Amino acid sequence: MIRAEGLVKRYRGVTALAGLDLEVEAGTVMALLGPNGAGKTTAVRAITTLLVPDEGRAWVSGVDVLADPMGARARLGLSGQYAAVDEQLSGYENLVMVGRLYHLGRRRSQARARELLDRFDLADAADRPTKTYSGGMRRRLDLAAALVAEPPVLVLDEPTTGLDVRSRAQMWEVIRDLVGSGSTLLLTTQYLEEADRLADEILVIDQGREIARGTADELKSRTGGERIEVVLAEPHRLEDARRELARVALDQVEVGESGRDLSAAVATGAAELRDLLAAYDEKGIKVLDIGLRRPTLDDVFLTLTGHRTESRPGDSGPSGPDAVPLDPAVHDEMEARR
Ligand SMILES: Nc1ncnc2c1ncn2[C@@H]1O[C@H](COP(=O)(O)OP(=O)(O)OP(=O)(O)O)[C@@H](O)[C@H]1O
Ligand SMILES: [Mg+2]
Repeated sequence: MIRAEGLVKRYRGVTALAGLDLEVEAGTVMALLGPNGAGKTTAVRAITTLLVPDEGRAWVSGVDVLADPMGARARLGLSGQYAAVDEQLSGYENLVMVGRLYHLGRRRSQARARELLDRFDLADAADRPTKTYSGGMRRRLDLAAALVAEPPVLVLDEPTTGLDVRSRAQMWEVIRDLVGSGSTLLLTTQYLEEADRLADEILVIDQGREIARGTADELKSRTGGERIEVVLAEPHRLEDARRELARVALDQVEVGESGRDLSAAVATGAAELRDLLAAYDEKGIKVLDIGLRRPTLDDVFLTLTGHRTESRPGDSGPSGPDAVPLDPAVHDEMEARR
């Protein structure tokens, strides 16, 4: 349903995409996982006709996006990195407007707007201007707008970045429902956990190129499952503490700059933690804190590339929920919808 081959996009001094290939089968979800500046938005924009790549081709539902951009657009719904909603209009008006732009007709547009507002838990706020919406509400409205015309293919650029835990969980539920109803989805994210929960396949990218791909389980088996993290009460016991942790770890033990915190990937989690606690107890090694943590994108990177994620200069971090959309892409996305 989505295919891209050899996508390259260069900006002055920066190669945003360095030959990216991807394929998303009908009815499945692919997560494009990468840190700030990895090229996620550039890839999404190339696939959704918002930019012309320097090299490479892409197809949506079999339609060549370069040869027939309008045809490709008619087959996809896009929710960009920054919610592209009209601030002055209410949620209801925004959705009706999108319906009209897709020539759904007035009554059909109105019915579809109500239906989507209900589904995304926005019915109570339907008639308020969207400038009064929270970040999570805007993201849900933006996703609803992408669904108005019931496109077979959906592309979501960082659907939960900047959302709080509750809004994120709500968004995950919405996305899982979509997948359950048979949509084909490409989503980008900086969160391994999100990719893990939502995607059938994960493509990890950095500096515009693939660094790994596979199912969440395949990636985890390469990067370890959970991690044990320890903060020592007495830094002079570092060597003893490290040795004991190494006994239960899958691969190398990492020592933080403070010289008192250690971490390592383990195969299961609780069993190793119990063994380690027993060993520390026996040796009289005191800890301030000890616990299990799920691996993050940073851990995956460290394992796969030997270095941590690093933003390129000039890249800003994830935007907050109420960030003002300064990105010119927002404009294009609103235009594309019209
Ligand atoms: N219009 C542009 N002009 C110049 N450089 C650009 C432009 N758009 C993107 N870039 C650069 O290309 C690289 C990839 O950017 P892109 O926005 O695709 O990353 P991303 O993975 O979406 O990051 P984020 O997680 O921050 O959204 C970055 O180094 C970025 O600075
Ligand atoms: Mg982006």
